[in-house]
Amino acid sequence: MTRVVYIPGDGIGPSIMQAARSIIDASGAEIEWVEASAGLGAFEATGNPLPEQTLELLRETRLAFKGPLTTPVGTGFRSVNVALRTEFDLYINLRPVHSFEGVRSRYSDIDMVIFRENTEGLYSGVERYADAEKTIAESVAIIRRPHAERIARAAYEYAVRHNRRKVTIVHKANILKFTSGMFLEVCREVGARYPQIETDDKIVDNMAMQMVMRPEQFDVIVTTNLFGDILSDLACGLVGGLGLAPGANIGDQVAIFEAVHGSAPDIAGKNLANPAAVLLGGTMLLRHIGDDARAQRIEDALADLIREGKYVTRDLNPDSGVGTTEMRDALVARLT
Ligand SMILES: NC(=O)c1ccc[n+]([C@@H]2O[C@H](COP(=O)([O-])OP(=O)(O)OC[C@H]3O[C@@H](n4cnc5c(N)ncnc54)[C@H](O)[C@@H]3O)[C@@H](O)[C@H]2O)c1
Repeated sequence: MTRVVYIPGDGIGPSIMQAARSIIDASGAEIEWVEASAGLGAFEATGNPLPEQTLELLRETRLAFKGPLTTPVGTGFRSVNVALRTEFDLYINLRPVHSFEGVRSRYSDIDMVIFRENTEGLYSGVERYADAEKTIAESVAIIRRPHAERIARAAYEYAVRHNRRKVTIVHKANILKFTSGMFLEVCREVGARYPQIETDDKIVDNMAMQMVMRPEQFDVIVTTNLFGDILSDLACGLVGGLGLAPGANIGDQVAIFEAVHGSAPDIAGKNLANPAAVLLGGTMLLRHIGDDARAQRIEDALADLIREGKYVTRDLNPDSGVGTTEMRDALVARLT
């Protein structure tokens, strides 16, 4: 049995996480779920959005399956997701994006994996007003050579392990000659150690256009924090939105698997939320612990369900009349 910290999260979190957990259990996966709390619910219950007990369990198990967490805008506490990335140095934000048959979208042949540097760049948290009158604001982008190197290595190693053919480095080295320039240089140096993988690079603005015009040309993408944040949502949009997009935050010690989407307060408690994105986060977790066979079974069952279009939530088929629990039950039935 592999022990995994299970954080239900806020809003739609508890219902989609419960659905995903039932489906993963139905596949026969040997996981012992260890419940822990974080987010707005934890803050309201204990005064701390990231209780020490949750951190302790994460240090012990090194694995988490996490629901979306609500972050109050403007006031309140700091983002728990950012706190977790910092605490455990989760430097890889890994987002696979591929087309699903049966989902209305512009393209049918997309299969790309984005490696976003998750700890620094423009999100380093170094911000200030440069004058007393607060008329000048500064945010400092920081790129550390070893940090650029480790995310590049992760992308190329992934490409080799998964028989991918190309890594595209995304940057803005023409303008940001120091930060983006160093990132590009380091990624190219790492790429040179993997002659079997083609290396390509694109300036981020051109990349955005190319992803919309000819997304099928991209395979593995590696980029800095801000560009990765924006491009990975763009990529989700290309295949039909957030309902099918999982993500993982991975460091050398700890890995946390989740959906890309948030806690969706507008549909919380209505049995409307699609559990697929978080379930695909769960299959990434299974692959991470070496259970590729069960991950594949779940992904195949989900792909069949989506192609058939009957037992899917309304975001995928507005006429289905199916909710989170019915979609869960249909998948559990196919896996047991
Ligand atoms: N990883 C995370 O924990 C994470 C990620 C993003 C946002 N958030 C937080 O979530 C809260 C809400 O953020 P938001 O409204 O900007 O984004 P959101 O992703 O929660 O919702 C955006 C839109 O997508 C819909 N949606 C999202 N997930 C869905 C699902 N599974 N099925 C069907 N529809 C779905 C919502 O109903 C909404 O209309 C905020 O507090 C934000 O900070 C958390």
